Formats: sequence, structure tokens, C-alpha cells
Amino acid sequence: MATTEEMDRMYRWTRYVYDFTRKYYLLGRDRLLCEMELKAGDRVLEIGCGTARNLICLARRRPEVLAYGLDVSHEMLATAAAKVTSRGLASRITLRHCFAEQLDHRGTFGLDEPFDAAFFSYSLSMIPTWPEAIEAALRNLKPRATLYVVDFWDQGGWPGWFRAILKGWLDLFHVHYRPELIDYLQKLDEKGVGKLTLQSVAGRYAYLAAFRKSG
Ligand SMILES: C[S@@+](CC[C@H](N)C(=O)[O-])C[C@H]1O[C@@H](n2cnc3c(N)ncnc32)[C@H](O)[C@@H]1O
Repeated sequence: MATTEEMDRMYRWTRYVYDFTRKYYLLGRDRLLCEMELKAGDRVLEIGCGTARNLICLARRRPEVLAYGLDVSHEMLATAAAKVTSRGLASRITLRHCFAEQLDHRGTFGLDEPFDAAFFSYSLSMIPTWPEAIEAALRNLKPRATLYVVDFWDQGGWPGWFRAILKGWLDLFHVHYRPELIDYLQKLDEKGVGKLTLQSVAGRYAYLAAFRKSG
């Protein structure tokens, strides 16, 4: 498990330029927010919410839902809280410090019921203990609710030199493409835990997974 100190060290300064710089290479995030199936009153959780960029977009786009975010970095959460407050969304977006692997809707957010939807946006590629993070997310979702993931894929539609440069760049930030993660979700599907649908973003630059939990 990455520690809070490690993540704080990584984001202490980059958090100030994070949204601007990541706009160009964290592809598929807006598509994910558009495609999420949500109803009025739904509670939606982002796991590894960073600067709350996605939660703010979601809250603006879907005024009828309540948004929740957790992150392990206090530095990122400080930026997230300032942005949420300055945009007047503090009553609709709740932020908490928590490890993805330790999520508990009661303990972490004081909620009586599990979430109606949850998503990981470019965070599972940074979480070494990603199976535990996925298990915790599924445990904290209602039956038939969907867990969404957007993250780096294998860039299969791109030239080799591009893949090599991207991999070198991502290594600097402890980000790793995890082919075994998609296999893991497929195995859960085969076991009847839920139903997986997978889409490619920009020639397999990234993938968009939707895992609908069984009833
Ligand atoms: C690449 S950033 C993505 C931020 C945001 N989801 C986005 O799309 O802009 C990954 C985030 O995951 C957080 N993170 C890393 N490991 C975590 C863990 N074990 N539990 C919770 N958050 C974690 C980091 O602190 C960071 O804010």
C-alpha cells in the first residue's frame, strides 16, 4: 500500500498544476462522467479523487446527485477542499482522507447505505494493492450498482516509440499499466459477481470499464 507520506511528497507541488497538465493525457475522464448511469438522489463516490476535478464536473453536470470523494493524500485533499468551497459546492461534495483499501461507507462517510455508483479515475494504476481496493469498492456498493474505472490501457493502436515514451513518463509518477486488472474483473464476471463491459479510449490509450454488481 502506498503511504500518505509518499503521496503527499509526490503531490506537494504538482497539485498546483495538476489539473492543467493532466488535462492532456488523462483521457476518457469526461466520457466516463457522461456515460455514468445515475438517478436523482444517487450517491456517487470517487476513489482517489485527487484535486476533485471529476467530482466538481460531476456535481455541475448532474445537480441531482450527491458526490463523495476519498484520497490518501492530505495535500491533494487540501487542494480539493479549496476548489469545492470556492465553487460553492461544499454542500454537495463530501471529501474524506482514507485508503481505498480501507473504505467503509459507515466509518468513512457516516452513511447508513452503500453507494449507488463508484469510480476510479487513473488511481488504480497507482495503487499496488489494487485487488483489495476493488474488493472494498464492491463491498460498499448496493446490489446492481456499477463500479466504473478509467485508466491507462496498452496503447495497442499507437506506435512503439509512443508507448515507450509514455511508459517512461508514467514510471516517474509510480503509475503502472496493469493488464492483470482487466483479467481480474473478467474473472469476477465469470464467477457471477457482476457484469463487465469494456470500451477503448483513443486506440487503447485508455480503457473505460463498467462493472455492474449482481443483484
Ligand atoms: C493520478 S491521480 C488521479 C486523480 C483524479 N482521480 C483524476 O482523475 O484527476 C491518483 C490519485 O490517487 C490517490 N491515491 C493513490 N493511492 C491511493 C490509495 N491507496 N487510496 C486512496 N487514494 C490513493 C493519489 O493520492 C492521487 O490523488
